Amino acid sequence: MKEIEGQLCVEDIRVSDLAIEHGTPLFIYSSGVIKDNFKRYKDEIRDDDLICYAVKANSNLHILKLLVSQGSGFDVVSGNELKRCLTAGADKKKIVFSGVAKSIEEIKFAIESDILSINIESVGEFERILEIAKDLKKSVNCALRINPDISIGSHKYIETGTKTSKFGLDNEAIRNISELAQESELINITAIACHIGSQISDENLILSSLDSMIDVAIKLSTKGHAIKILDIGGGLGIRYKDEDAGDPKILLTKVKERLKGMDYKIILEPGRSVVANAGILVTKIEYIKEAGEKKFAIIDAGMNDLIRPSLYEAWHEVREVEVSNVEACHYDLAGPVCETGDVLAKDRKLKILPNDCVAFMDVGAYGSVMASNYNSRLKPIELLVTGNKVKVIKRRESFEDLIALES
Ligand code: LLP
Repeated sequence: MKEIEGQLCVEDIRVSDLAIEHGTPLFIYSSGVIKDNFKRYKDEIRDDDLICYAVKANSNLHILKLLVSQGSGFDVVSGNELKRCLTAGADKKKIVFSGVAKSIEEIKFAIESDILSINIESVGEFERILEIAKDLKKSVNCALRINPDISIGSHKYIETGTKTSKFGLDNEAIRNISELAQESELINITAIACHIGSQISDENLILSSLDSMIDVAIKLSTKGHAIKILDIGGGLGIRYKDEDAGDPKILLTKVKERLKGMDYKIILEPGRSVVANAGILVTKIEYIKEAGEKKFAIIDAGMNDLIRPSLYEAWHEVREVEVSNVEACHYDLAGPVCETGDVLAKDRKLKILPNDCVAFMDVGAYGSVMASNYNSRLKPIELLVTGNKVKVIKRRESFEDLIALES
């Protein structure tokens, strides 16, 4: 994203032109930024290591295809995310399946699809995988997702590695599953996995989880399991406001240093750090209104389009798409949804008039994927820009789409 002569641009294209042509609200992504972000990981991994982009961050087929072309593997959390990856042409041997609630159908589909690994999160899940493996008469490679009891200090909703979280396995479950797997002969524990949370700026937290993974891997190896892979999850953060961003180079330098003399392949599952700063949400100012001391800019995007501010009190930078020649004022930017919490940004100094457009920055991750149809609002159109080329990668929903399943 850059500014050329007072105009916000995505690569070589003016955002104001796209807003006029395609309407608002609209998501725009830069393929160049996604490729650069991915390369920051790719440049640091060893030949056998693998980057499995976390599909949940942004699952648009065209973005998945772009990442396939860069050599990415994928971390999926549902059968449908797995289907998306296969549809996008992903290599099945580069797909790992995380998540605490995998259904019978999802596990069956994953085993039949011959993916790299199912990351087990409970004893019950292990038993289910074993039953299905027996039915299909197929052996399955699995990872044990451990819970290392590490707090990352980010928003409580995106912590996943503390003792009482629903994710991962404690020591007793690890012991149980590893013994049952050995008896089973159909389930191979080939990897140890861990993901301690999201928006992490201190790489050392991931290093601590790596230490826990190495401990478990060594213990299981001495019991006869052939552990070949350590999947260190995703979680590196970006700078939304003034936080420190995580740095793939620092993380991977330390990881490689730590693993010297050991024979483990590494998997990473980055999501946010690959796509977040590649996306913007463009919205039009419908009205400007005052309420007591407060000035509201009422915009045409709501919490249904971008839920992060309402759900996590997340801060996204707001920029004018074209700066109007008026005095700058402080505004709360409120959406059309009938909820008091539908305020996407507070107290932002902007030079705006009704019908101007503003952009919410850094919404490429956990933006459109978390959008809903609340208030019967239609989900936005999405564009992917490459240089001076624009591709519609998701059309705007229509009223007919909205009621299709009810007719
Ligand atoms: N691997 C696993 C098993 C995960 O659960 C996640 C994210 C990732 C990888 C990718 O993490 P990342 O690199 O993106 O931090 N909706 C929240 C974030 C939820 C993250 C869920 N798990 C938000 O908008 O901040």
